[in-house]
Amino acid sequence: MRSVDLRDVVLTTPRLTLTSWLPGDVGPLLEVHSNPETMRFVRHGRPESRAETEQLVGCYIAEHAARGWTKWRLADAEGSVVGRAGFGGDDAVRQLAFVIRRSHTGRGLATEIAEALVGWHLSHADGAQLRAIAAVGNDASVRVLQKAGFVEDGTEDFDGIACHSFVHPS
Ligand SMILES: CC(C)(COP(=O)(O)OP(=O)(O)OC[C@H]1O[C@@H](n2cnc3c(N)ncnc32)[C@H](O)[C@@H]1OP(=O)(O)O)[C@@H](O)C(=O)NCCC(=O)NCCS
Repeated sequence: MRSVDLRDVVLTTPRLTLTSWLPGDVGPLLEVHSNPETMRFVRHGRPESRAETEQLVGCYIAEHAARGWTKWRLADAEGSVVGRAGFGGDDAVRQLAFVIRRSHTGRGLATEIAEALVGWHLSHADGAQLRAIAAVGNDASVRVLQKAGFVEDGTEDFDGIACHSFVHPS
């Protein structure tokens, strides 16, 4: 894995760079996670505080160090944070997840990184299945998953929220 500015570069796409996090990334992620529209279908369904975001970045740093994958930092060509993308779950089932900064949606960025992450998963699968969920009503997310090759195989309740369940047939 290449390193730039102390961050590991996980992958690049024509417009995006996916890297590990540094503690100083809390501010930029908070800008993404404090938007109510962005957070409507994510985590607690509400904007998050600095303390919550700080804890999250700490968790992403620890996961990346311990197992080599997490929800990574997503930056544009200028190096500005435009979201986060990667995997939750465990060694048996990885769950693809992506969040794009509100000002940058509608440009195909989620699809670009979702497709690249499917490729990353295929070369680092270690026997893990690739799945994803999208809350019922999160139609943009459903569309991104479909474009990245996921197939819906049911619904599930996640923390009391009805979600479409997807599997990647890889
Ligand atoms: C969902 C999200 C990741 C999409 O990011 P994006 O960069 O705008 O996605 P893309 O531009 O790659 O693709 C969006 C697709 O959804 C479609 N779409 C957008 N809004 C839609 C809606 N309300 N209903 C149906 N389709 C919609 C777009 O037309 C596009 O499909 P197309 O290429 O076939 O036209 C972004 O809105 C986001 O971060 N939302 C908040 C966080 C979130 O919900 N993450 C997913 C958690 S599972």
